[in-house]
Amino acid sequence: MSRPGLLAAAAAACALAASVVAWQPTSTTPAASATGPLDGSELFQRKGCATCHTGPESNATYGGFPLLADAPTWAGDREPGLGADEYIATSIRTPSAFLSPAWVGAGGGVTAMPDLGLTEAEIGALVHYLLRG
Ligand code: HEC
Repeated sequence: MSRPGLLAAAAAACALAASVVAWQPTSTTPAASATGPLDGSELFQRKGCATCHTGPESNATYGGFPLLADAPTWAGDREPGLGADEYIATSIRTPSAFLSPAWVGAGGGVTAMPDLGLTEAEIGALVHYLLRG
């Protein structure tokens, strides 16, 4: 190997070593959703709710489905004896439990919300997101 070639190789090795030393992981803690409380806002998008429902932070892809952006104003009045939290949770857990007046008013006759098979933790996070932001 010629002298200039050797120098260039040495310089490259030095640069590589420097960049390896300079690299530090930006974060060693896993994403909050993997360990901590579930993020209702993220679930609303990820589970497909946002496709059918306009929510606190997004507009539905399709029109005609009940709006959920203003859920805190009506959720507690939908079913006698059922608080807002339990109404929203039951609507998600068992979509056929109630027929939303907003849906009936839009011409919907039978429940057209799929049972998304969410865990209780996911339902709780969504209830929190829809009622308290
Ligand atoms: C394929 C479309 C679709 C998807 C996806 C969907 N929904 Fe629905 N949802 C509906 C329809 C239709 C109704 C009204 C049906 C009824 O009342 O039985 C409804 C009703 C509701 C209600 C009650 C609304 C009211 O006015 O009483 C809540 C709360 C709700 N959905 C939350 C969710 C959440 C949270 C998700 C995601 C985990 C979701 N929905 C996913 C179509 C959908």
